[in-house]
Amino acid sequence: MPTGAHWRIMRTLIHSGLLLLIGLCVAPATRAAGDVEKGKVLYNICTACHGPNAEGNPALNAPANAGQDPWYLTRQLKNFRVGIRGAHPDDTFGAQMRPMAMMLANEQDIADVVAYLTSMTMPEPPQTVEGDVEAGKKAYATCIPCHGEFGEGAQALDAPRLSNQHDWYLVRQLENFKAGVRGTHQNDIYGAQMRIMAQMLQTDEQVRAVAAYIATIDYRPGGE
Ligand code: HEC
Ligand code: HEC
Repeated sequence: MPTGAHWRIMRTLIHSGLLLLIGLCVAPATRAAGDVEKGKVLYNICTACHGPNAEGNPALNAPANAGQDPWYLTRQLKNFRVGIRGAHPDDTFGAQMRPMAMMLANEQDIADVVAYLTSMTMPEPPQTVEGDVEAGKKAYATCIPCHGEFGEGAQALDAPRLSNQHDWYLVRQLENFKAGVRGTHQNDIYGAQMRIMAQMLQTDEQVRAVAAYIATIDYRPGGE
């Protein structure tokens, strides 16, 4: 049996442990929420490349961001800022995006611009990549566990939505992952997971085929 003093100390320790646990659980929920109106103002610097409706612009190599998963957008903006993405010497387009992400001063700015992007309607980019859609459909079976049958993505698996994204951008990212231009930074936990998957697409033809197939999928919300 602990003596009175021991018991008090133990009780204090248990309480502080519990408080710490509660704090850890509550922390993500209490993280500053994004302000759509402030995000709209911040988005002015993004319009030039990503377009007024965040629909993306092939001429400027900029993907669509409207309606993309907020947790994924947040991760990418942070990755660009710290150089987990966009700092590889061969990452020509990532290098264009990095200084833009650095213009967002802090986490609140990121949360605000993400809130605005999330509030926008998902675009429906035209199909541009020529590839064997049937072969792509077969290859896409490997992607379903993480990205979902309709390319809707799954937060639980850290995998973003792919449907309603520009097909040429999907091709470039798959090539970047394969070549190690993306997903090789030592702190790129999620990119590293995707790099392994991209390496399963052995030829350029297979990469084009899977992107061409994804471009035909009609987005549907996932089961989450
Ligand atoms: C100078 C043109 C330019 C501007 C301005 C710009 N971007 Fe980008 N952005 C790009 C390019 C190019 C890419 C594609 C990088 C790649 O291919 O890896 C990109 C990629 C992204 C991605 C990654 C999307 C994904 O699916 O992984 C996000 C998120 C993003 N931009 C958000 C923003 C935001 C928010 C702003 C404004 C603060 C902004 N961008 C301003 C050019 C730009
Ligand atoms: C084990 C889970 C997993 C599988 C299977 C998987 N992916 Fe991914 N994928 C991810 C994760 C995680 C990311 C996010 C990487 C990051 O945050 O940078 C991702 C990112 C991507 C991106 C980048 C999207 C963007 O907006 O920049 C593309 C494109 C992609 N995956 C295509 C595919 C294709 C095609 C397949 C099947 C051949 C596939 N993935 C299979 C987990 C997976």
